[in-house]
This record gives sequence, structure tokens and C-alpha cells, in this order.
Amino acid sequence: MERFVIQGGARLEGEIPASGSKNAALPALAACLLTGEAVVLRRVPRVRDIRTMEKLLAYIGAELVLEPNGPLHVRAAVIQDPTAPYELVKTMRASSLVLGSLLARTGRARVSMPGGCAIGARPINLHVHALEQLGATLTQEGGYIEARAPNGLRGTRINFDRITVTGTEDVLMAAVLAEGETVLENAAREPEVGDLAALLVKMGAKIEGAGTSVMRVQGVSRLGGAEHTIIPDRIEAGTFLLAGAITGGDLVVANCELDHLGALIGKLREAGAEVEPAGAAALRVRAPRPLQAVDLITEEHPGFPTDLQAQYLALMTQAQGIAFITETIFENRFMHALELIRMGANIRIEGRQAIVAGPAALSGTTVMASDLRASASLVLAGLVARGETVIDRVYHIDRGYESIESKLALAGAKIRRLEE
Ligand code: EPZ
Repeated sequence: MERFVIQGGARLEGEIPASGSKNAALPALAACLLTGEAVVLRRVPRVRDIRTMEKLLAYIGAELVLEPNGPLHVRAAVIQDPTAPYELVKTMRASSLVLGSLLARTGRARVSMPGGCAIGARPINLHVHALEQLGATLTQEGGYIEARAPNGLRGTRINFDRITVTGTEDVLMAAVLAEGETVLENAAREPEVGDLAALLVKMGAKIEGAGTSVMRVQGVSRLGGAEHTIIPDRIEAGTFLLAGAITGGDLVVANCELDHLGALIGKLREAGAEVEPAGAAALRVRAPRPLQAVDLITEEHPGFPTDLQAQYLALMTQAQGIAFITETIFENRFMHALELIRMGANIRIEGRQAIVAGPAALSGTTVMASDLRASASLVLAGLVARGETVIDRVYHIDRGYESIESKLALAGAKIRRLEE
């Protein structure tokens, strides 16, 4: 397995470009199954999870052509096998995003139950319940969800018990071809949901209220092809802003939507960093040392994203004072804290809360990545630790970051990838 080797101490300076959003591109790929016509997607990030989703679409019967450094062409002219097999789902739970689109296109779907993962049980009961309300029958057999809607789907009013991002996306893709009106209440407001809705509307769907907690969908009989540019990855961009802050650097992150990062920008400013627009779609962060400790509670968008909690926690190990960090979305999302403690961080975990006292001098050692965003947190810690930090199992980070070591090196980080 590959590993990163990081020499700590470099201030990040210069400019790093963010890629297209992994969590917008994944539902966009699933949406290609809703039509037999060609869909062209621009700015699809070349990360492991996207390659997994591309394999899944090919397995189902879609043809995919990636132009070198260009757009991705997808055409699901024929659905050969409306199945998401265990071999693919076990490596990426977001494969369940094809449930709604396959049901809407073919009236059936067979999706392997996504297991849990490092950050929690992550059931999909809310997806299943909502699809049943649209008229589908879903049963579990042999570790698979068997979904049927022989008479098609019928629109209805759906209220999610709790906000679910891919649950909202899954059901939205089913509703666009359902008969009549569907109202989604307590819908996720993440920008990635809005981007999916924008693509679906280009394909001919009728959707109002995307980006708000109530979405109204008028079902149509078919969808056509479209061209769409994926929004920038706000979590990758946020990770780089936090890397600039933790190294006391002066860093521009290009290709990011400012209004997707409001919660992070607010926290960085509260901690004493300067964060200012640097052109139409770029942000500049400058950070004195030390920053001040600032408490954090993760919440659904537009609150502070859970996907930046681990990276923010790494920053707080270097801040002056005590920060109380509360994780409200997932039940086990402090795996990174245990590794940071091994590097010398002063952190106490109490249930859903991490109490971080800083600044604590971090020293390089060998640490292990456990999940995508925990890995990013360890990279940030390695950038400021004294000496050399080795991070094992970097395939976790490659799931959601496109060559993160090359991008960080652009700004002066001393980081390299080693084949084990
Ligand atoms: C999406 O996951 C993201 N993944 C996650 O990003 C992100 O952490 C999460 O949203 C929260 O923002 C993609 O978009 C591909 P949820 P998702 O359904 O949709 C519970 C990353 O790092 N829940 O919003 O799976 C669930 O257990 C990944 O890129 C149910 O109980 O998250 C969690 O506690 C990690 N039943 C909460 O809701 C359900 O049916 C929110 O989960 C669905 C969810």
C-alpha cells in the first residue's frame, strides 16, 4: 500500500486549485441512468470514488468516454443489469445513489446493502422508506435490496425524519420521472443537492426549491441528454484553506465558491485568520501564529460541514486555548483524534465531543489513515509536526482528493508519495 512522507515546518504560500466536487459528481453520474441520451459532465474529479462509480455505471450498461483533461461522456442507452453488486458497493457506499435512478428508469433495482464504515453505521432506511412512499416495493434478500415499481412511481408528499444528503438525492432522482407532484420536506440543502437539481433540470426535469428544505417536483415522462459543469469541491477547498491556516501561511485556493464555505470562513476569522476573496472564484487565507481556540458544532448545510470537522480539529491542536468540538452528524467521527494524540496533541474525547487544548507541539511519527477526512486531518498535522510524519493507507485519501500531495507541494509543502 502507498504512504505519504511529510517533513513538517513549511509555511504554505502561493496558489492551489480545487477540483470539481466528488459529492456532486457522484449523484450526477447516477442521474445519467435516467435517460438513454448522452450526458456530458465537465470538471469531474479524477478520484477513486468516481472511478468506482464509473465502473458501476459500466456494469449496469452505460458507455463512458473520458476525454484526456476534458469532459466525461456518459450514455446509458440500454440498462443491461439494474444491479449494484457487493464488490463495488463495499468499496463505496454512495453506490446506493443508483437505487432511485434505476427504479425510475426501469422499474427495478438490485443494490447491495452498503455496510457501515469507519465513521458510523450509516443505514439507508430513510432512502428505502421514501421510495416506498413513491410506490416502490423494497425487500431485503441475501444482503441485497430488491426494489420493484412495476407500475411506475407516483408522486406524493415525503418528510424525511432526519436530513440526509444522498437520501434527498436518491429520492429526487426517483421523483423526477414519477407521475404527478412530489414534495420533499426536510430535504438536504447542501450545494451538491442543488447541483444535481441543476443537471436534472437541464435534462428536462421540473424542480423548484432546490437548495431549500422543501423541494417540489413535477414528474415528466422522460428526460433527455445535457451538458453540465460540476461545482467546485468545497470540502477539498476548505481542507486547503485549513492547511494554509495551520502552517501560518499565505495561500490562495482557486476554483472555489465563496458562498459554499461561509461557515468555515466565519470560524477561521473568529480564530484570527484573515480570509478574503482573491478574484471571482478564489479565496486567500493568511494566518498569524498562534490562532485562538474556537468551539465548533457540525451541522447540516449551511452549518459547519462534518466533512471539515477532522481538519478543523487538527487546526485547533495548534490554537491558543481550549476548543470544544461537537460532532452531531455521525456517531464515530473522531478516529483522527486518536492518531493526533499519538503525535502529541492534547485531546479528550467525551461521547460526541472532542475537547482540544492547544497549542501542543506535534512530533512526526507513523500514523494510519482510517477514513477519507481523517486522513486529510493527519496530512495537516504532518505539515506542522516537528520531523517526519509517515501516513499509511493513503488510498483512503485518494478516494476524495485528486493527487493531494502534488497540490500541496505546489504551495511549498514537503510531502511525497512512497510505493510501499
Ligand atoms: C453524504 O453522505 C456525503 N457523501 C458525506 O461525505 C457527508 O459526510 C454526509 O453526506 C453528511 O454531510 C456523499 O455525498 C457521497 P447523510 P450521506 O445521509 O448522504 C443518518 C465524504 O467525506 N442516516 O446525510 O451518506 C446517517 O447515519 C463523505 O465525502 C440514517 O440514519 O450522509 C448520518 O448519521 C463522508 N438513515 C446522518 O443521517 C438514512 O437512510 C446524515 O447522513 C440516511 C442517513
